[in-house]
Amino acid sequence: MTRPLAHGGRASEIDERHPPIRTRRVSFDWESTPLHWVPGDPVATHIINAFHIVLPEGEKWFIQCVKDARPHLKDERLLEEIKGFIGQEMVHSRSHQGVLDQILERNGIDVSRITAPAARATRTGRSRWPS
Ligand SMILES: [Fe+2]
Repeated sequence: MTRPLAHGGRASEIDERHPPIRTRRVSFDWESTPLHWVPGDPVATHIINAFHIVLPEGEKWFIQCVKDARPHLKDERLLEEIKGFIGQEMVHSRSHQGVLDQILERNGIDVSRITAPAARATRTGRSRWPS
């Protein structure tokens, strides 16, 4: 669904029911978190860790996608929402990276064989938007 813009073209409808994205500056200290941080369930811990492994680069890719799209957008509300989204995704990326650095690496788990190709793929894949 689209709506006309005052200066021509059309913009996607924005769901006005959700509040604006405000970046929450949160940080986590994982230094004293045990390797198996889901109590009594190492399998669940590592299933969720799989998300922590791919999400730092994934969140950066989300950011790159909206940055690539930004020059093509004229909708001021959407551009403002993108600012909040970028801040939010940066916090997410850092938070997931903290698990890799402070829990997995501290316990001798090297995930670089997964994260390095993921980083290359997201950097070279960029988004579908022309730059
Ligand atoms: Fe995110």
